[in-house]
Amino acid sequence: MSVQPPSETTASAPIKRLTVPNLIKRKQAGEPLVTLTAYTAPMARLLDPHCELLLVGDSMGMALYGMDSTLGVTIDMIINHGRAVVRGSKRALVALDMPFGSFEASKQVAFTNAARMLSETGAQAVKLEGGKEMAETVRFLVERGIPVIGHVGLRPQSVHVIGGYAAQGRDEDAWEPIIEDAKAIEAAGAFATVVEGVAEPLAAKITESVNNVVIGIGASAACDGQILVTEDMLGLFDWAPRFVKHYASLGPTISDAVARYAEDVRARRFPSTDETYKMRRPKK
Ligand code: KIV
Repeated sequence: MSVQPPSETTASAPIKRLTVPNLIKRKQAGEPLVTLTAYTAPMARLLDPHCELLLVGDSMGMALYGMDSTLGVTIDMIINHGRAVVRGSKRALVALDMPFGSFEASKQVAFTNAARMLSETGAQAVKLEGGKEMAETVRFLVERGIPVIGHVGLRPQSVHVIGGYAAQGRDEDAWEPIIEDAKAIEAAGAFATVVEGVAEPLAAKITESVNNVVIGIGASAACDGQILVTEDMLGLFDWAPRFVKHYASLGPTISDAVARYAEDVRARRFPSTDETYKMRRPKK
């Protein structure tokens, strides 16, 4: 049986975009939040009816641009894709990732960049990676009207410090700093926190330790919501992290479609009469 997203509308009212308070209410009501990444308008259109939140993530570096990390993603890339996702969606709250280098230097720099990102796209929130050390920045943004999502646990923007993308908190003595990060971000006013790549019991513990919305990726079903990189869950790539469940195999489907197209073109079977224009009948 497929579970439909709870309706925000009546038969006569137009679909309204979900807001930060709507998402917080869903956590309080114990309704799991469905969230995915989106980078383009057509994909946003397909995801929007099913999702409460769409994240224009810096994972686009790998998923769209073929980069080997998220570090090369720029504010302009996030803005361009953010505009497309806002245009392609009606219902989901759209959040934008603050890319590496756009928020760490100072809270003022973070505000200037976050404000530009929201005002040039129409998105409603930003996400930034970091724990305790980013709490002051989170507070500065929230107090000035910018809803913030934190991101703790495995932080891909720190790949060169961590030395890879290994799951965090797999030994209990490593839990405390990560729990403290989640608490500091919540106390600073973040309405939600992404918890990425941590041992399942740690993710469950973080979820019960904070009151903001905890969105897991490689975390725990106990989190308030889940996020995945859409292209990963659709099976577009040969490889995906262990925590990805494939809900489709688009890679082989696309490959097969393109192979059949190539065969038709080479055999001059495409375009056929169905796909070509006939001459108009001459007027009498
Ligand atoms: O960039 C991204 O897509 C993310 C999610 C995977 C949480 O940060």
